[in-house]
Amino acid sequence: MFRWLTAGESHGEALIMILEGMPAGFPIDQELIDQQLRRRQGGYGRGGRQKIERDQIHIFSGVRNGLTLGSPISMMVRNLDWENWRDRVMGPQKLDHDPKKVTRLRPGHADLAGALKYGHDDVRNVLERASARETAARVAVGAVARQCLGQFGIEIHSLTRSIGPVASDAQAPYDWQAVEESPVRAPSHSEEMVRAIDEARARGDTLGGVYEVVAEGVPVGLGSHVQWDRKLDGLLAQAIASIQAHKAVSIGDGWEAASLPGSRVHDVIVPDEEGNLRHATNRAGGIEGGVTNGEPVVVKAAVKPIATMLTPLDSADLVTRQPVKAHYERSDICVVPAAGVIGEAMVAIVLWTAFLEKFGGDSLAEIRRSYDSFIESTRRGSEAAGRTV
Ligand SMILES: Cc1cc2nc3c(=O)[nH]c(=O)nc-3n(C[C@H](O)[C@H](O)[C@H](O)COP(=O)(O)O)c2cc1C
Repeated sequence: MFRWLTAGESHGEALIMILEGMPAGFPIDQELIDQQLRRRQGGYGRGGRQKIERDQIHIFSGVRNGLTLGSPISMMVRNLDWENWRDRVMGPQKLDHDPKKVTRLRPGHADLAGALKYGHDDVRNVLERASARETAARVAVGAVARQCLGQFGIEIHSLTRSIGPVASDAQAPYDWQAVEESPVRAPSHSEEMVRAIDEARARGDTLGGVYEVVAEGVPVGLGSHVQWDRKLDGLLAQAIASIQAHKAVSIGDGWEAASLPGSRVHDVIVPDEEGNLRHATNRAGGIEGGVTNGEPVVVKAAVKPIATMLTPLDSADLVTRQPVKAHYERSDICVVPAAGVIGEAMVAIVLWTAFLEKFGGDSLAEIRRSYDSFIESTRRGSEAAGRTV
């Protein structure tokens, strides 16, 4: 079983990750992890924090001479901003004076609920861990997962579908290079999206949007129809909804399908020239009954506009209970392009977990044997095709 955990506060010393249940023999390239971390830091509309941080992975264990050992992988991303905070309010040592407390609550954040739940009188005790700085750790774990999936030809990309009122009308197949070259990671309407972000910034406001993750090369059979908590669509929805500011998830045409007749929603099954079974379209987003069906897995996510604004919202003070303006801390204007990279990481982790459940073994060689034999069994003419015994 593959398990992973992260730890770390936004202005603490570092983010820490532990990956357990990793098989041996998978090549891991640290530069590819750094590449994903850089992608998460980018995108038009980010705030001042990204100018301070230069996220880089440090691997402490579980990888030797470029290959996984089968032992737990432990990794770290340093917070460079820590140096500015260490002696003030974020160190572990007891201070000889009480740090200045944050008590002005920010609507749209974990501030109020988290402070009441954990009994804090300083909102910093909540906001430091609730912060999306934590997503750098997820992207690092996802970067390991996607390298493992890459051994089996699975590739994961994402694109921005909309920012505020501006939507891209691009249709698959997408030009992934063009997406990466766009400042907002959109295949079309980049300039209009950039303008919308500039206008929001000028108004002291923020913008959300929608992105789409596409995983290509995913084999049939990941996830299962037999139990609610093994259905891959459910697992993907949980993983994506767990990302900060993510408020809705759709598998395939999800939201659009709800208003269409069935005849325009379902993907008819057609044999290809070799007699293998494919779908004529992919409106289901590669998952039927909670199981991957061999088509690309497509997940869309709606990201809310950032709650911290240059023109702060009305709020209240946690301690005095008097009305005040919300606390302002350096903030992003729009995070949809970065959110797509985080969404990719979460999809990679879910697919890797399901992949190991289906083809699991202790080494790359063992997993490859299991994978090859299963793929062969699904082909036309295979002795095992369509039979369970
Ligand atoms: C990549 C990314 C960056 C974010 N940056 C900020 C930010 O600078 N300021 C802010 O107020 N919220 C930011 N957020 C959103 C908050 O972390 C999030 O809204 C908050 O923790 C409350 O959680 P919820 O929106 O999931 O309910 C960011 C989210 C993501 C995904």
